[in-house]
Amino acid sequence: MQDKPLKTVLIVGCGYIGGRVAALLAAEGHDVSAVVRSRQSAEKLAESGAMAVCADLDRLPTDVDWGCQAADIYYFAPPPIEGQQDLRMRAFLASLPASLSVRRFVYISTSAVYGDCHGAWITETQPLQPTTPRGWRRLDAEQQLQAWCEKQAAQWMILRVPGIYGPGKLPLERLRKGTPVLRETDAPYTNRIHADDLAAICIAAMQSSSCNQVYNVSDGHPGNMTDYFFRVADAAGLPRPPEVSREEAQTVLSAGMLSFLNDSRRMDNSKLLQQLGIELRYPGLDAGLQHCFGN
Ligand SMILES: NC(=O)c1ccc[n+]([C@@H]2O[C@H](COP(=O)([O-])OP(=O)(O)OC[C@H]3O[C@@H](n4cnc5c(N)ncnc54)[C@H](OP(=O)(O)O)[C@@H]3O)[C@@H](O)[C@H]2O)c1
Repeated sequence: MQDKPLKTVLIVGCGYIGGRVAALLAAEGHDVSAVVRSRQSAEKLAESGAMAVCADLDRLPTDVDWGCQAADIYYFAPPPIEGQQDLRMRAFLASLPASLSVRRFVYISTSAVYGDCHGAWITETQPLQPTTPRGWRRLDAEQQLQAWCEKQAAQWMILRVPGIYGPGKLPLERLRKGTPVLRETDAPYTNRIHADDLAAICIAAMQSSSCNQVYNVSDGHPGNMTDYFFRVADAAGLPRPPEVSREEAQTVLSAGMLSFLNDSRRMDNSKLLQQLGIELRYPGLDAGLQHCFGN
């Protein structure tokens, strides 16, 4: 396997982050094939210069054509919404023909694989103890990918990503509705990354001279989730949402939101910054929100 990044790139799951990665790579002169599920997303992609491949990982045909012979693969498709396994990752890996030569995978996983760390600072050596099916599915995907790469002598990079925010990806709808948040003193630690920084990190991971590594991806400034909603509300000129106790939260918040409130951890991003040589454009929420609101 050669170590130099290939010019042909396959982005599996080319949405909010994939679109940014595709645009950056197209500008560097790469040939980008991008997998999406819907025709609508495929049409949108065509405008960015990427070649869209429309395929549903839940229903792959046996003879799917990924549109390339050799590729660096960015895998950004989310797992299914149920179960403890990532059957989409399984189907995708099984669909890769022996004739397709893969140099390296970059996979966006999530920090949910660590489970609840009771607010502790954690590095990549933290034991993996997911507390939600969402976390287990991601751990399953990480393990499938590593096993496949070992068998095929391909390289991998796993990015454990926390909350992604950026233009068009802020909880404004929720704030407009006045959906309550957990009382700040009860709110768990959360970590964040701006979408533009994440896109640059994905490319750095693909082009790095190191490989087969896991990285915590974060802007290095964890905060609590309530403070996040307050700061977004302030930046958007919206009223701050009402605070509720943990007990009240059980009745007024969605199961999805509650699952995020049970894990608390602070991600140490030193390995990311040092080993991949990343200089974050938005190393804190204030800078990131200023960018989102065009200030
Ligand atoms: N949001 C967060 O805070 C957060 C945190 C950590 C990790 N992540 C993960 O980061 C990754 C990238 O996020 P993103 O914001 O770029 O996601 P996104 O905008 O929702 O994009 C997901 C892409 O995957 C495609 N896709 C979904 N299901 C598919 C299927 N069954 N078959 C084929 N393609 C499918 C979608 O295609 P269509 O558009 O055609 O449906 C879309 O192109 C995702 O895995 C996400 O779960 C997100």
